[in-house]
Amino acid sequence: CGIVAYIGPREAYPVILKGLKRLEYRGYDSSGVALLNGSGLQVHKKKGKVAELEETLQGKDLHSHIGIGHTRWATHGEPSDRNAHPHTSASGRLAMIHNGIIENYAQLKQDLINKGYTFHSDTDTEVLLNFIEDILKNNNSSLEEAVRIALKRVVGAYVIVLIDNETPDTLIAARKGSPLVIGIGKNEHFLASDASPIIEYTKEVVYVNDYEMAIIKPDELILKNLGNERQTPFITKLDMELAAIEKGGYDHFMLKEIFEQPQTIYDCLRGRLDATAGTITMSGVEKYAEQIMNANRIVMVACGTSWHAGLVAEYIFEELCRINVEVEYASEFRYRNPVINKGDVIIAISQSGETADTLVAIENAKAKGAIILGVVNVVGSSIARISDAGAYTHAGPEIGVASTKAFTAQLAVLTMIALKVAHMKGSIDQQRYIHLLKELDAIPEKVTRLLEQEEQIKKLAEKYKDAQDFLFLGRGYNFPVALEGALKLKEISYIHAEGYPAAEMKHGPIALVDENLPVVFIATKDSYHEKVISNMQEIKARKGKVIAIITEGDEHSTALANDVIVVPEADEIVAPMLSTIPTQLLAYYIGVAKDFDVDKPRNLAKSVTVE
Ligand code: G6P
Repeated sequence: CGIVAYIGPREAYPVILKGLKRLEYRGYDSSGVALLNGSGLQVHKKKGKVAELEETLQGKDLHSHIGIGHTRWATHGEPSDRNAHPHTSASGRLAMIHNGIIENYAQLKQDLINKGYTFHSDTDTEVLLNFIEDILKNNNSSLEEAVRIALKRVVGAYVIVLIDNETPDTLIAARKGSPLVIGIGKNEHFLASDASPIIEYTKEVVYVNDYEMAIIKPDELILKNLGNERQTPFITKLDMELAAIEKGGYDHFMLKEIFEQPQTIYDCLRGRLDATAGTITMSGVEKYAEQIMNANRIVMVACGTSWHAGLVAEYIFEELCRINVEVEYASEFRYRNPVINKGDVIIAISQSGETADTLVAIENAKAKGAIILGVVNVVGSSIARISDAGAYTHAGPEIGVASTKAFTAQLAVLTMIALKVAHMKGSIDQQRYIHLLKELDAIPEKVTRLLEQEEQIKKLAEKYKDAQDFLFLGRGYNFPVALEGALKLKEISYIHAEGYPAAEMKHGPIALVDENLPVVFIATKDSYHEKVISNMQEIKARKGKVIAIITEGDEHSTALANDVIVVPEADEIVAPMLSTIPTQLLAYYIGVAKDFDVDKPRNLAKSVTVE
């Protein structure tokens, strides 16, 4: 979910509305605003995207200088007007927005029902809000105190922001587990789940920490912990430009982000990789050099696309560093009581830096003595802050819900880390090391060339858009690319797709192959190439349609495939950064051809801050 709030001299509604649009990638099944002015509290909410809320509010008097807004990704209760946020307390005095999950809501709700409360939604949020109101009434306390008392009883993760009809000059906010950024303007404050609704107005922000509360007036920001002790707000300067979060002439953020990849990979390498001098500079990794080199194992922990980056990294690290690597879904890792030994190195990979499962998985591992390296895109995010060290991916804000440029930047960072470790450890010979640095350095230019095939991929998308299923196959470094290609297609086009190791396909998925099944082979030239060609033959023999992503000049595969997409030649270690891009464009253009909202595919959210 995304939250926004404003207090200050501006009209609150336009600031909140614009902020909600910027945060919509975090969830978009319903949205709402609550505003306070002299005549009381108004709450408006609507199922569907923010534009639908905007439409229903057209022409209404929304004058106010304090307000809160929310765009939702449903957890408790189906997407509907009544379950949309903000929620209002029983007396109508308070309104609240919430991102997260209150785990003990059932018990709290029962207690409140016993006291005579009735509920108008299925959400845990309304329960927490009435719980706060109940404390407020019974203890005759201030709202600030009531929130503090309530939060001590709450189990779960949250960011909440409240407004109170009786103190219309104050916003109260608190966080545990879900992100909250406060922008500091001149006699005004902006609150949001991330910086994107804020940068237009101010670059000075405070990232609120877990178990902290903020009491905010136009000209005052007080931070306290739940023990009621004042905390000093740590003001940071945002290093982000407004243009980075606008579409800049592209039809969709996803397309813009696919086309940004030459630049984002370049930005990621810049200042770190010097192919001429033969050096990689990564201070975070250097700080833990001994521990990483001597680690018994490295565990990559991530979700979704970031998990696929971890899988590619597994192949690279094992090959170059000769260290045992395991790749774990954060949601499984955190709950199965994994064996973690002191000195294990955990690499947490996350675009947002806020994914709840990844965050808790590394908190647990850290408590057991593991060293945590973060490979994170969003600067200042929770995972970045809890990591012992790490390397940012520097891909800039990624708004399209399906991850593209963040993935290739993750690959670039992970490859650099592997090369750095291998070089320190001496597990790579100097010639190969220098060769790979040059190969990495050449990637941005090769991506530029590859993107010139956009039109051709668009035609392929037209040709195959009505398929019911797709299979994506690859081996070695390109096996995770096949998984990622299938995921992208599922997310954007709602076509069922499976990614599989090309050889393993014989043990099951081959039963699906007939003349209607398009099979995308990630078949760039590498040590497995001849084997992949054999797998292609197996599909052809069963009349499957082969779409092959191949290296320039590969006549053999061209002759075999129904359609080909060529990518520039590159060493197999760095090839996934190229071979993945045609799969992004294919998914994008199939989604567009089917007239789906590719930037906001149904049911998904960009940043999953609930487990
Ligand atoms: C969500 C997004 C995916 C992303 C995954 C992990 O499911 O829709 O695109 O890969 O979360 O997110 P993270 O921010 O941790 O990389």
